Amino acid sequence: GRVLLAYSGDTSCILAWLIEEGYEVYAFMADVGQEEDFEAARKKALAVGAKKFFLEDLKREFITELIYPAVQANAIYENVYLLGTSLARPVIARGMMSVADKEGCDFVSHGCTGKGNDQVRFELAFYGLKPDIKVIAPWRIPDFYNRFAGRQALLTYAAEKQIPVQQTAAKPWSTDENLFHISYEAGILEDPDVTPPTDMWKLTTAPEDAPTTPERITIEFKAGIPVKVTVPDSGKEHTDAVDVFMTLNALARKHGIGRIDIVENRFIGVKSRGCYESPAATILRVAHMDLEGLTLDRNVRSLRDQFVTIELSRILYNGHWFTPEREFVTSSIPASQRTVNGLVRLKLYKGNVVVEGRSSDEGLYDEKFSSMDELGGFEPTDTTGFIQIESIRIKKWAQANVRKGQS
Ligand code: ARG
Ligand code: SIN
Repeated sequence: GRVLLAYSGDTSCILAWLIEEGYEVYAFMADVGQEEDFEAARKKALAVGAKKFFLEDLKREFITELIYPAVQANAIYENVYLLGTSLARPVIARGMMSVADKEGCDFVSHGCTGKGNDQVRFELAFYGLKPDIKVIAPWRIPDFYNRFAGRQALLTYAAEKQIPVQQTAAKPWSTDENLFHISYEAGILEDPDVTPPTDMWKLTTAPEDAPTTPERITIEFKAGIPVKVTVPDSGKEHTDAVDVFMTLNALARKHGIGRIDIVENRFIGVKSRGCYESPAATILRVAHMDLEGLTLDRNVRSLRDQFVTIELSRILYNGHWFTPEREFVTSSIPASQRTVNGLVRLKLYKGNVVVEGRSSDEGLYDEKFSSMDELGGFEPTDTTGFIQIESIRIKKWAQANVRKGQS
């Protein structure tokens, strides 16, 4: 049979093994904005024996179809993780299924371990798009994992098959990178009390080494989507979706913004220590949430926070993108963001994103109406009634407590 392999240089041994098992292997790579030498990867895949190599530039759809909804909904997992790996999986899986269709591949394969989230995300996405696809997950096949468990067996096999292996002693952890983030897991990071070495971080400057002069920028949102970044220091305005992201990434990199280090709960129930850099995403989160304060109705916000934010984050993390519940949840995002229009002015300084001001034409905020210095809008005496009514049940509860001696 013909198998399409989600290829990274690291999956070369899987490529060789699939060929050994009698498959014809096509290699697939997605450009989701990671810093990578794609030409070198192509050469390596073909040298190891791939019959064809496919490179798909998925950056724009990654931003507009996955990242925008995540920004609009303030998606976040376990209060800290901005979901960078999860966000890229649906577009990569879709790119693969489209190539598999066109090229007549009945099988797909990937190099995810049997303990992680990515195997679940990839495979649920494959099935959600092409229910008849057959998945080969070598790290869950006894013949494969019994043979290759432990690094040495893989290295020996690589040498046998003349596969060049990157020197890993220098980077004792595993990464996943795209234009939204980079993740670091495994290896020396598995001890949750090991501080990441300073030279691990790849996408950002250490906050303590960042410039001592703050930098100001303005982000404009339309319907909760960042449509323009203005950078006075460079005199430039950025409006193209990819350009907006790259610009914010460069600014965040310079100012040391977006590093985190957490222990998270994987979908399958295993705890895992992960370090992440999400540069642009961190700036956008701060700016977007701030603008919602000015422009979003209180009750819409509350419903969105309790439902859309939580469910979308869970859907993304657990790999449920191509599902009816995802369609349902994302369909409510535009309605929640209709009024999220305006500008946020930010100061970037040594790891911090500080909001310095915001403005909007939406008119939900009324300076006069909100002012402490002015009467107007409604009678102060009305509020006396509001508090009286609100307090009815609270007084009853307190009286009962007093009676029972529990006050
Ligand atoms: N723990 C993160 C997540 O589940 C990062 C996963 C990184 N994946 C990888 N193949 N290195 O989203
Ligand atoms: C892996 O297990 O292959 C990477 C980490 C993850 O998927 O959670």
